[in-house]
Amino acid sequence: MTNVVDQITGHRRMRRNRKADWTRRLVQENRLTVDDLIWPVFVIPGTNIVEPIPSMPGVSRMSVDRLVEAAKEAADLGVPAIATFPNIEMHLRDETGSNSLAADNLINEATRALKKHVPQIGVITDVALDPFTSHGHDGILRGDEIVNDETVEQVAKAAVVQADAGSDIISPSEMMDGRIGAIRQALDAAGHQNVGIMSYATKFASAFYGPYREAIGTGGLLKGDKKTYYIDPANGTEAIRDAALDVEEGADMLMVKPGLPYLDICFRMKEAFGLPVFAYQVSGEYAQIKAAAMNGWIDGDRVMMETLLAFKRAGCDGILTYFAVEVARQLSKKG
Ligand code: PBG
Repeated sequence: MTNVVDQITGHRRMRRNRKADWTRRLVQENRLTVDDLIWPVFVIPGTNIVEPIPSMPGVSRMSVDRLVEAAKEAADLGVPAIATFPNIEMHLRDETGSNSLAADNLINEATRALKKHVPQIGVITDVALDPFTSHGHDGILRGDEIVNDETVEQVAKAAVVQADAGSDIISPSEMMDGRIGAIRQALDAAGHQNVGIMSYATKFASAFYGPYREAIGTGGLLKGDKKTYYIDPANGTEAIRDAALDVEEGADMLMVKPGLPYLDICFRMKEAFGLPVFAYQVSGEYAQIKAAAMNGWIDGDRVMMETLLAFKRAGCDGILTYFAVEVARQLSKKG
């Protein structure tokens, strides 16, 4: 008697390795651990404030004192690093984002408090100007142009101010040309040789950033779009070329942003450079999962875990995700 399937497969059956929980555990290729997580957080001025962000259920803007408490919990769970984003008071925002250079601005205040009270967690800070500008752009606006070189000069200065405050990794997200080299030079000249640079190497002009702009209060401010400096979502090869420049200029780590729609870029970046690659699962990706889960349309926990594992499979060394603490709690229960 010939079995049709055996004839076709030649007795090769993929399902043997899937037959039981123990075989599946044995052959599992990728794992998500707490060491893969970077937690992005939103900071607001004041004390004892935790203000929910409507389009990001489960995420709140926190005053520095409450952020310190939250960071302690994250550190206790084993989350390696936190990435801070400030919601700057409107009266401090101006055309050039000058508050980004103030040693005592909100982002630097948060860094000092975190380094003082939760020294075991890494602090990653962004130097893009968008939280500080009255027009919501990441750079200096002259007429209708985001001027590159002047912006680079300013973000390099802001990087030194952030490093002075104790930032461990400077993470420039504004996509100006030449910024990585300029920031490296400025940090070194100021004696910050040990401060690293995680470049938002491939940041796409994406519609997935909507809830973030609500969170830092730039949504209503932004004039036009960011297409003259972020990468066209249609372009993969251009993204790799852009990242190559950042590598040459001295980036220590690379980021891909947004995450899930750009897994091909994660894979290509890891293959091309071998540097640590991080994906940013951005606000809109988070909001999609939460919204569908709240409607009972998907199992939110399982989708959360599946998306994060997908980043690992694509070659990422870690993920910036608003789920970080939720995931860390779940992993610690399992572990
Ligand atoms: C801009 C910046 C953005 C995000 C972080 N920093 C994008 C933007 O508003 O253009 C998005 C993060 C997210 O959506 O979670 N420098």
